[in-house]
Amino acid sequence: METATLAPTLPSEITATLIDPSAYADSQRITDAYTWLREHMPLGVAKSRDFDPFWVVTKHADILEVSKNNKVFRNGDRATILTDQYTDAMVRYLRDGSPHLARTLAHMDDPDHRKYRALTSSWFMASNLARREDAIRGIAREFIDRMLAQGNECDFVTDVAVHYPLHVIMQILGVPVEDEPLMLKLTKQVFGNLDEDQNSSGKAKQTAEQALMGLSGAVETFFKYFDVITRDRRENPRDDLASVIANGSIDGAPIGSFEAMSYYSLVATAGHDTVSASTAGAISALCEYPEELAKVKANPELIPGLVEEAIRWTSPVRHFMRTASSDYRMRDQDIREGDWLMLCYLSGDRDEDVFADPFRFRIDRTPNKQLAFGFGGHMCLGQHLARMEMRVFFEELLPRIKSLSSAGNASHSKAVFVGGLKSLPIRFEAA
Ligand code: HEM
Repeated sequence: METATLAPTLPSEITATLIDPSAYADSQRITDAYTWLREHMPLGVAKSRDFDPFWVVTKHADILEVSKNNKVFRNGDRATILTDQYTDAMVRYLRDGSPHLARTLAHMDDPDHRKYRALTSSWFMASNLARREDAIRGIAREFIDRMLAQGNECDFVTDVAVHYPLHVIMQILGVPVEDEPLMLKLTKQVFGNLDEDQNSSGKAKQTAEQALMGLSGAVETFFKYFDVITRDRRENPRDDLASVIANGSIDGAPIGSFEAMSYYSLVATAGHDTVSASTAGAISALCEYPEELAKVKANPELIPGLVEEAIRWTSPVRHFMRTASSDYRMRDQDIREGDWLMLCYLSGDRDEDVFADPFRFRIDRTPNKQLAFGFGGHMCLGQHLARMEMRVFFEELLPRIKSLSSAGNASHSKAVFVGGLKSLPIRFEAA
């Protein structure tokens, strides 16, 4: 990357923080690094031994500018999540030169991206999802009943937040309930591959080879599982998303099996860990800010605001990468064709130029221009579902509790890509 010599280079300790999964488990460490960058080097290049140099984009306006320009800033050309050189080379070896283990929407550019997204985009529209609201409310009630039946304490993450969105998305996909533990395990291996409690090796310090094997093993298991589902739904279509994907066609021909399996795997992973993280983050914030809990309990019409603020607060997708397909000038810097850029959503969601008092959790923040769902052509396909799941959950939970407080130390996952709370002990009093 030619520009790396001219562009400002991040201080090595800031780069070390950005590439260190444990920094993301310590919210102070990662947010301090972002705050420093926004103030002193909003667009600079991170250089380190194991990674190709990459631009670090930390300002809200710049993340939007890059996200909206899908022609210049592409997803298909290089890894879309931060990947070290060894892993990148191995993935290309395993996939005949492609930088991606799968071929999902997040790995495509137009015209393919538009065609594949169109297969399910009307399915994910708020108007279509509305017919599922009663079923989702029933699932929320079930988990809340179980939580309240436990007494007045629980670990909100492991007892509730992990399971509710998992069950919702698996019902939507058409995965039987007995296979949910497998789906959860595989998702943890994909997103928590660098966290010893979540990866397949159980090791905090894995070699790059072990990490890659864990990741590709999870992807292959997903593929085998969904291969069976594809065949079944082609023979016996049902009212589920798996049938929509299995019977989808692109340019008049049936969707390819690699693409179909990639599609399911994306929905099966992206569709629950993120919502779990934002729901648990909302509960944690309500414990920390009891006045906000009192406000939303007294004014249930503020629930959508609570949901939006929880999504901003947690920004569970920490980053996506883009690759410049041509030279581009931004913030007085020359980004060159082929350069790699990290869009730091969590940083954009704390940008002082956009959010007053960004480190305060405020459910009545209006407007709330959070960009945790990204923006532009790749903006989260499941955003309406995520909002609905969370809104319904809080509509059901809040009338049933009098109080909510922390009951011990919380912990966060060590994850550079998607992460959030791993454990959240809480105490509550039923209403
Ligand atoms: C893409 C965040 C929930 C499915 C994305 C992106 C982000 C994101 C940041 C990339 C956007 C970009 O590149 O501009 C979130 C957050 C969620 C959430 C914060 C919850 C709070 C969901 C759910 C689904 C889902 C429930 C359900 C299926 C997807 C898919 C994509 C995506 C399929 C790829 C879209 C594309 O590349 O065209 N999400 N997501 N997400 N998300 Fe979500």
